[in-house]
Amino acid sequence: MPSNPEENNIVLVGFMGTGKTTIGKLLAKSMNFSFIDTDEEIEKEVGMSIAQIFKNKGEGYFRELESDFIKKLRLSKCIIATGGGMPCHNDNMTKLKVLGTVLFINTPYDSIIERLKLNQDSRPLLKSSLGNEKDELFSLFLKRQQIYKSSDKEVVGDNNPSFIVKKIREILKKSLEK
Ligand code: S3P
Repeated sequence: MPSNPEENNIVLVGFMGTGKTTIGKLLAKSMNFSFIDTDEEIEKEVGMSIAQIFKNKGEGYFRELESDFIKKLRLSKCIIATGGGMPCHNDNMTKLKVLGTVLFINTPYDSIIERLKLNQDSRPLLKSSLGNEKDELFSLFLKRQQIYKSSDKEVVGDNNPSFIVKKIREILKKSLEK
């Protein structure tokens, strides 16, 4: 973690549907930082949607794109919203920590499910898991929680993005006082 989190990048990690993009945009605005969403950047780079990448090239290819993308990043004072699986593959968590303070948005599973039902199209993993055993998604959630938990900081997610942004600012401020 950088010595001055307010002066460096903030990397938001967490499961699908935790609101990383919405929260990231608000946080960037409130801190006067820039903002990027890794899924959006990868889509632009390859000229395909996430759903198309999964369908045409497979998940392994998408994970390679994600890892390559991190290696190329040269940013400062930026809020980086990551795809839900990014920190969970290819030692990406370690690489993300080099970029800045990694902050885990820890949202309860039931709230995630409610939110995800509304937006399945851009999430191929969700589509396949919801179509099969419900437990499959829960297993993925539990497995990933362990990795997310190794983040530098953690905030409990809820349905109010502005409130979470406020909490994140407090967490960052506190870590400066230590
Ligand atoms: C994924 C999450 C998605 C996207 C892709 C894979 C995952 O991003 O990167 O569908 O493995 O959890 P969001 O977390 O923004 O939904």
